[in-house]
Amino acid sequence: MAFSGKNPTCTFLFFLTLSLLALYTLLHHPFPFPAPSSPAANVFLSSGSNYTVAAYLRQLTLRPHLAGTPLSLSTALYVHSHFQSLGLPAHTTNFSALLSYPAHSSLSAHFSNGSVLPIPLSEPGSSGVIPPYHAYSPSGAAHAPAVFLNCGRELDYLALAAQGVDVKGCVGLLRRGCGLSRHEAVANAAAHGVAAVLMYTEGEFREGVERGTVMKGVGDPLSPGWAGGEKLEPDDPKVARRFPGVPSLPVSEVAAERILGSLEGARMPFEWRESFKTGNRRFWGVGPGPTKLNFTYKGEQEMATIHNVFAVIKGSEEADRYVLLGNHRDAWTYGAVDPNSGTAALLDIARRFSLLMRSGWSPRRTIILCSWDAEEFGMIGSTEWVEQNLLNLHSKAVAYFNVDCAVQGPGLFVSATPQLDDLLVDVTKQVKDPDSENEYVYERWAAANGGVNQIQRLSRVDSDFAPFLQHAGIASIDLYFGKDFPVYHTAFDSYDWMMNFGDPLFHRHVTVAGIWGLVALRLADDPILPFNYLSYATELQEYKNVLNTLLGESISLDPITAAIQEFTTAAYEAEEEIKKLRVDGSTLLRRRGLNDRLMLTERGFLDPEGLPGGQWFKHLIYGPRGDMDSKIDFFPGIADAMSERRKKGGEEATIRHEIWRVSRAIQRAASILRGEVT
Ligand SMILES: *[C@@H]1O[C@H](CO)[C@@H](O)[C@H](O)[C@H]1NC(C)=O
Ligand SMILES: *[C@@H]1O[C@H](CO)[C@@H](O)[C@H](O)[C@H]1NC(C)=O
Ligand SMILES: *[C@@H]1O[C@H](CO)[C@@H](O)[C@H](O)[C@H]1NC(C)=O
Ligand SMILES: *[C@@H]1O[C@H](CO)[C@@H](O)[C@H](O)[C@H]1NC(C)=O
Repeated sequence: MAFSGKNPTCTFLFFLTLSLLALYTLLHHPFPFPAPSSPAANVFLSSGSNYTVAAYLRQLTLRPHLAGTPLSLSTALYVHSHFQSLGLPAHTTNFSALLSYPAHSSLSAHFSNGSVLPIPLSEPGSSGVIPPYHAYSPSGAAHAPAVFLNCGRELDYLALAAQGVDVKGCVGLLRRGCGLSRHEAVANAAAHGVAAVLMYTEGEFREGVERGTVMKGVGDPLSPGWAGGEKLEPDDPKVARRFPGVPSLPVSEVAAERILGSLEGARMPFEWRESFKTGNRRFWGVGPGPTKLNFTYKGEQEMATIHNVFAVIKGSEEADRYVLLGNHRDAWTYGAVDPNSGTAALLDIARRFSLLMRSGWSPRRTIILCSWDAEEFGMIGSTEWVEQNLLNLHSKAVAYFNVDCAVQGPGLFVSATPQLDDLLVDVTKQVKDPDSENEYVYERWAAANGGVNQIQRLSRVDSDFAPFLQHAGIASIDLYFGKDFPVYHTAFDSYDWMMNFGDPLFHRHVTVAGIWGLVALRLADDPILPFNYLSYATELQEYKNVLNTLLGESISLDPITAAIQEFTTAAYEAEEEIKKLRVDGSTLLRRRGLNDRLMLTERGFLDPEGLPGGQWFKHLIYGPRGDMDSKIDFFPGIADAMSERRKKGGEEATIRHEIWRVSRAIQRAASILRGEVT
C-alpha cells in the first residue's frame, strides 16, 4: 500500500487530509445528531472504503471453504497474513474437533402409476461445492411411503393424528420454519417413529438446497464443556445423544413439490396451506403415500483441525480488559453473505485500526479481532475457545460484538443485552445510512420500527455470541443488514449474488464496519464503560409483566419483583456514580472499580447448574428454550417449566423453583453492580 507508517511527515499529512475531510463533511452536512467526540472515531469513520471491503470479500469467496478442508485453511492463512501485513499482532489457535461430511446420498420417488423418478439432490451448476447434506446426520436408508409433516412441530403431529394419519415408518417431508432448529425438527420426527426425514426451505431460489447441522447444542461433541485435553470416544453414548436418531437430507423446493404434488390421503390442514409462501397452495394431500420414497444417506465423521485467527491490539492503559469483535470464516459453500460479508467488514476494521495506530492512537483497553472456524457445524471454533479461556474471559471480557451474515439486503437488525442499548442508539446516530443520501442509520432504523425499541434480545443459539453470552455471561451484540436472504446455505451464496442483489455498491458493508468499529472504539476507549443498566432493569420489569399476564394469580412472582427492585436501585445508583465520576475527573482506580462492576454485572445472571434443558447454558435470562411453542423468549428455565405444566401436567412447584432461581440470578447481578458486601 502507498501509505507507510515509517514516515512521520507522510503520516502527518495523511491525517491532516483525513481530518480536513472530516471537517468538510461536518460543515457541509447538517448533523441531526452530535458528531462523535473522539478524534479516533472521526478518523475511523472517514477511512471507510467500499473498494477495500469488496476486494476482501472477493478474495475470501473465490472458492468454497467448508471447515476442516484445505481451502478453508487457506482462508485462515489469508486472514492471518492480512492482520500481519497491517502490523497487527496475529496468532492462530487450532483445535481438533469431530466434523461430519457426506459420502453418498440418493433419493428416488416411486409413484403409484409405477414410474420411478430419481430426485436430484445437488444444485444445478454447483460442481466443486459440497453436496447438500445435514452434518452429523446418522447414515441410514428407508424405502417407505412419503408423508408431509409441515414444520414438524408437536402441533403438526397432533393435527396429523387428528386426521388419522400414522407417520410411523414413513419418510417424512418437512419444511424449515416455525422457529424449530434442524435438530429439533429431526429429533421430533424420530420420536414420532418417522424413518427418515427430508427437509426443504421455501424461497426465491427454488433449486437451492439449504445445508446445515443437525447437532444438538454447541461445540465439539467430543469435548462438551471443555476444550482440548481428553476427548470422549466418538461412539460414547453421550456423543450420540447430540445427534438425531434417524437420518435426514435437505432437498430443494422443486424436489419437495414433486413429492408433495403426488401425495393423496388426508387433506392438508387449512392453516398449513395458508402459511405456505405463494405458489404452493395447490397441494392437498399429506399422505402417507401412495408415493414411496427410496432414501439413502451415508455420512462420515472425521477428526479435523480447525483454526481460529486473532489480531490482538494491546490496550495502553488497561491491557487486561478485552473488547472482542468476532465473526466466523468457514462457509457451507462460497459464503459471500454467510459469513464472509462479516469477515470482509472485520478485515476492513483491522485496516482502519491499523491506520489509527500509525497516527499514534492505541486503545485504552485491548481489542481482540476474532475469526472463528467451524461455526456452521455448531459454533465449534468459538465455543472451544471460550471454554479454553473461560476464567480469563470471566474476569477480563468487557463485551463481545458478533457479526455473522453481515449483509443480506437492506435494513438494520440488531440484538443485544440491554445495558448496551444506549450505546447502539448513539453509534447508529453517527454512521451514515447506506441506502439514503442524507440520513443516519438510526433514522431509518427507528422509522422502520415505528419508534418502538427495535433491539432484539439474544436467546437464539444461531451464531458465535452463544458461548460468550449464554455460557460465559459476557455482554453481547449481534448485528446484520437485511434478513432471510434467499440463498442461505446454498451454492448460490456467492460474490455474484452479493454484487447483483445483496449489496451492489458495498455501501452496506461499509456501514456494518462503521457501526462495529465505532462501538468497539467506545467500549475500548471510553474512560467509563458505556453501559446503562437502567435499560436492563426496564427490560426485566417488562418480562415480569408478561409473565404476570401468562401465569395469572396462581403463582406468585414476588421473589422476582423484589429482585428487580433491588436491581433497579443498583442501576440508579450506578448511573449517579457514573455522572459523578464523569464530572469529578475521577482517579484511575475509582474508575476501574466502577468499570469492573459494570463489566461483571452480566456474570451475575449465570447459574452454575445452568438450564434444566441443557446445563452448558448458564444464563438464566437469555438462552434456548426446549419448547419452541413457548410464548416467551426470555427466562428459558421458567418458559420450559410452564410448557411442561401446560402440555404434560408438570408440577407447579417446578415453575416456582425456576422463578426463585431467576430471582436469585437478578439479585446476584444487583449485588455485583452495587459492589458492597452484606
Ligand atoms: C495452527 O495451524 C496453522 C496451520 O496449519 C499453523 O500454521 C499454526 O502454526 C498452528 N498454530 C499453532 C499454535 O500450533
Ligand atoms: C406417474 O405419476 C407421476 C406423479 O403423479 C407423474 O409425474 C408422471 O408423469 C406419471 N407417469 C406416467 C407414465 O403416467
Ligand atoms: C433404493 O436405492 C438404493 C441406493 O440407490 C438401491 O441400491 C436400491 O436398490 C433401491 N431400492 C429400491 C427398492 O428401488
Ligand atoms: C463504491 O461506491 C462508489 C460510489 O457509490 C461506486 O461508484 C463504486 O462503484 C463502489 N465500488 C464498488 C467496488 O462497489
